[in-house]
Order: sequence, then C-alpha cells, then structure tokens
Amino acid sequence: MKTYGRFIKRYKLFFILGPLLMLTEVGGEIVLPKLMAGMVDEGILTLHNMDFIVRQAITMLCCILIQVSGGIGGHYFSVRAAVNFSSDIREEVFSKIQTFSFKNIDEFSTGSLVTRLTNDVTQVMNITRMGLIMAVRSPAMLVGGVIMAFSINARLASVMLIMIPLLALAIFIIMRMALPRFDYMQKSIDNLNSKTQENITNVRVIKSFVRRSFEVEKFNAASSRLRDRTLSAMKLVVCTMPVMTLAMNITTIVVLWRGGNLVAGNEMLVGSLSAIVQYTTQILSSLMMVSMMIIASTRAIASIRRISEVINTEPDLTDTDAKYPDKTVTRGDIEFKNVYFKYYKKLKTSILEDITFSIEGGKTLGIVGSTGAGKTSLVQLIPRLYDADKGEILIDGVNVRDYSLYNLREGVGMVLQKNVLFSGSIEKNLRWGNKNASMDMIRENAEYAQADGFITGFGDGYNMELGQGGVNVSGGQKQRLCIARALLKNPKILILDDSTSAVDTATEANIRKAFKTALKDTTKIIIAQRISSIIDADKILVLKDGRIVGEGTHNELLKDNDEYREIYYSQTDREKEVS
Ligand code: UTP
Ligand code: MG
Repeated sequence: MKTYGRFIKRYKLFFILGPLLMLTEVGGEIVLPKLMAGMVDEGILTLHNMDFIVRQAITMLCCILIQVSGGIGGHYFSVRAAVNFSSDIREEVFSKIQTFSFKNIDEFSTGSLVTRLTNDVTQVMNITRMGLIMAVRSPAMLVGGVIMAFSINARLASVMLIMIPLLALAIFIIMRMALPRFDYMQKSIDNLNSKTQENITNVRVIKSFVRRSFEVEKFNAASSRLRDRTLSAMKLVVCTMPVMTLAMNITTIVVLWRGGNLVAGNEMLVGSLSAIVQYTTQILSSLMMVSMMIIASTRAIASIRRISEVINTEPDLTDTDAKYPDKTVTRGDIEFKNVYFKYYKKLKTSILEDITFSIEGGKTLGIVGSTGAGKTSLVQLIPRLYDADKGEILIDGVNVRDYSLYNLREGVGMVLQKNVLFSGSIEKNLRWGNKNASMDMIRENAEYAQADGFITGFGDGYNMELGQGGVNVSGGQKQRLCIARALLKNPKILILDDSTSAVDTATEANIRKAFKTALKDTTKIIIAQRISSIIDADKILVLKDGRIVGEGTHNELLKDNDEYREIYYSQTDREKEVS
C-alpha cells in the first residue's frame, strides 16, 4: 500500500469525489421507493390529494436528478482517478526498469517485465475503477436499504434479516471454494503469457529448428490448462447468479405473502409493500456486487504485488555515491587492478580472476581467448554494465564508480556482442549515438564503419525502415550499423565485442584502417575471434578461464605465449587449408 500511496495522493480529489458522488447516487436511489410508497399510500389511497401527489412527484424527480448526476459524476471521477493512477504507475514501472542493471533485468526476465508493465497495470486500473465505484456504494446501499425497509415496516423487513445472513453464507461458501481456483487461474494466465512472450520473441529460432509443432503442442497444453482452470473457477461463479435469483425470488415471495396478509388485515398499505419489495432487490443485488468485487480483487492482488516488486526493487548499480559526478572521461586511460567478478554471487569460483592490466588513452587493446573465457564479462565492467566484486577499475585514474553513470557511459561507446537495432529508419537508429548529428557526420561515421556503401545501395538509403531488432538487414550489415551508431557518440573509449565477426576480412581491414585515422585519440578495445582483427593492436590480452594468461604485442606473444601461438596457428593453418 505504501508503494501506491504517493500515486493516490496526486489524484486525491478524484479518489474522494468518485466514491462520494456514488454515495449521493445511493442516497437518491434509496429514498425513491419510500417516496413512491408515500405517493401511493397517502396521495392515492388515503388522501386522494392531487397537490400532495404532484409535490411528491417533484421531490421524486429531484431525487432522480441527484441520483443521476451523482452516478455520472461518481463514474466520471472514478474513471479519471483509475486511469491517471494506473498510467502514472505504468510510467513509474517503466522508468524504474530503465534504472535496472543487467543483473536486475536477468532476475526478473524480460517477458515478465513486459507482462507487469501491460497486463498487470491494466488489472490494477480495472480494480481501482471498480473499487471506487462499488466499494462504498454497495455497502451503503445494503445498510441504507435495510434502514429504509425497517422505517417503513419493521415486522415485514425482519424477513430480510433472516435472508441476508443465509445468502451471505451461501456467497461466502461459494467464494471460499472459488478463490483458490481464481488464484490458480491467474497463475495459468501468467504462465501462458510468459510462454507466448518467449515464443513470439524467438520465432526465428523456433522456425530454424523446426520446432513449430513442438511449440504449438507446448502452447496448447498451457492453453488447455488455463481453459480447465477458468472453467473450474467459473463453474462456481455461475452458481452465484442462480443462487441470488433464487434467494431474491424466495425473499420476494415471503415478503409478498407476509405483506399481503398485513395489507389484507389493513395493517399496511400497498405502496409500502411494493417499496419493501424494491428494497429487497436492492439489498440482495448489493450483496452480489460485494462478492463480485472480492473475486476481482483476488485477481488484482497478484498484479498489485507484482508491480510493487518492480517499483520496490533497488537497482543494484547506482551512482549516488559517486565522488566526482561532474567528471567526464577525457583521456581514455584504462587500468584494471586485481579485479574479480562473477554473475551469481553464490558461486564459489569467479568468472574473472585477478585481472590486472592497463592501457593508455588512444591506444588499441585486443582481447582474444576461447569462447566462455570471460572476454565479454571483462569489458562489460568498464561502462559498469555490471560491477566488479573485488578490485578496482580506473578510467583516467578515477574509479569507474566515482563517475556518474551518465558521464561514464557517455565516455564509453560499446558495441555489444548481442546487439540490436530498433524499429525506425536507419538514420534514426544511427542518431542514438548523437541526436544532433548532421547528415554529413552520420555519413562520415557510416563510412568509417564501412556501412555507407550498402546503405546508399538500399532504395531508401538512410531512410530505410528497419524491422524490430533490425531484422531486415544481414548479420554483417547489422554489425556495421551498430559500429556506426557507437562511432557517432564520439566516445573516448570504444569497445567492440566481437563486432566484426560477421563481416568479411577485407571489409574488416577497411574498418580497422578507418579507425586508425579517424579514432586517433580514442582508446579502442577490440574483442575478436580472428587474430587478424587485432594483429596490430598496441597490446593484446590472452584470456583463459577468466584469467589473463598472456599480455603483449602480437610478435611478443607469438614468441613466448603458448596459448596465443596455438590460437594463431590454428587459424593460419586453417586459412592455408582453405586457400
Ligand atoms: P563471457 O560471455 O564473458 O565469455 O562468459 P566470452 O569470452 O565473451 O565468450 P564468447 O567468445 O563471447 O563466446 C564467461 C562465463 O560467464 C558465464 C558463462 O557461463 C561463461 O562461462 N556467464 C556469461 C554467465 O554466467 N552469465 C552471463 O550472463 C554471461
Ligand atoms: Mg563474449
């Protein structure tokens, strides 16, 4: 509740006016049967007084007006409160996710975050709207109806005192049985959502592995489970309606029978009898509404909890303790001092162990090593995508934790190994690097990344629309676009994580050549599988099982590092074989 309090406060007025006006509606609705009874009993049956009837009719009209305007106003403000409230929550959840570190996101999983942001927020909106409209209205109607009925004829109204507890008991039993089933149903919906999310996101992989029928089967199983659970919950809920109608009819019959006797014995007039019948209906239907609300709330509670989980998660990577929040990266010197890192803190062995090296600003560092050696993990520590567990990482002599995240990441351009482009034109995608870049700058950087050639080859050139994730360009083209995007940032440190793996060697050589001239002052870190990609780097690190097992230039390493030699000869031999 604490989580939501501040959002409610923003729309305090709507949150108060909604239920308050619904209360006026109830007020109008509740006095109407009594007024009607008065009109019939006194105006028509007893006094035969036209003036009285007209007066009574005017009062009734006023009540109807109050009731209608209360109803409209109540609904209006409740909807405004619920929509604004949930929209603020949605924005808060989204901006919270933006502050999440990779680790936080890994923990939640992308699919679940999407569900929380969409489905769960909608659930919260619905329950808020419903709650504001019903939560005060239904109990007020129930209590008001009972009071009015008693004020008309206590003997007859006491029939209700027997029926209400009986009905409440019946509803209670149904609900007790239904609630766990609804809980189950909600879990199946969650399960189905996450399966769908995963499937649709990865539809290409599924197709390439010809897993379609398997996936369909898996989905059908989840869908059938949801169907069964929904049916099992609904079966009980549909019972409430007939039980209600039955109870309402029985009560009406009892009221009419007892009331009829009273009327026959001249102890009560017809108008009062019909009013009590109306109150009976009002009271029992509000009981029904209350039970509906309880069911809806149980479904929403899970959503409410899941949203607060996101809102209350503290990003595990912040810059609040940064000593020099205004400092920017100027030279691009990098130094690692005895750095240790692992993804899962519970694991005994580290992914990176005792990493120590340094590279001066403007130089090129190559990193090689077999797959899983820890290359990506190592470079991710530089822009603080993850934090090191032990040791220090210094940029320009200052610990990366002492920069503001913004300044640090502005200074470090990184082309991720698993990179994506976004839907939108190529130009828009490249502008991520620098939104104010002129068209000339964009072209120039695309040329460095050897991307200009193929972009202009597209009919629409830089205006070509990319599909989600950049699906309509080839792997190598995508990599070059990603490099161009990072270059436009004009970073002091540029990290390329296996970013030219899908680019042919000749094009890659051109990219390297362009880097030499265009990025003279930028520190370049290049992770590569091919030695040829880093052969002229100023320093090369050889990584194995999370440790540095070799450090030096290509020639130095070739002379006295077995690991490096092994990698190099395996590649040159293969090339010889191929040629
Ligand atoms: P890396 O992803 O750092 O290896 O994973 P790498 O050298 O870059 O490998 P390639 O060349 O791209 O394939 C190092 C270790 O960290 C674990 C992996 O299991 C791997 O053994 N790891 C990686 C995680 O536990 N979680 C991750 O999110 C990523
Ligand atoms: Mg990697």
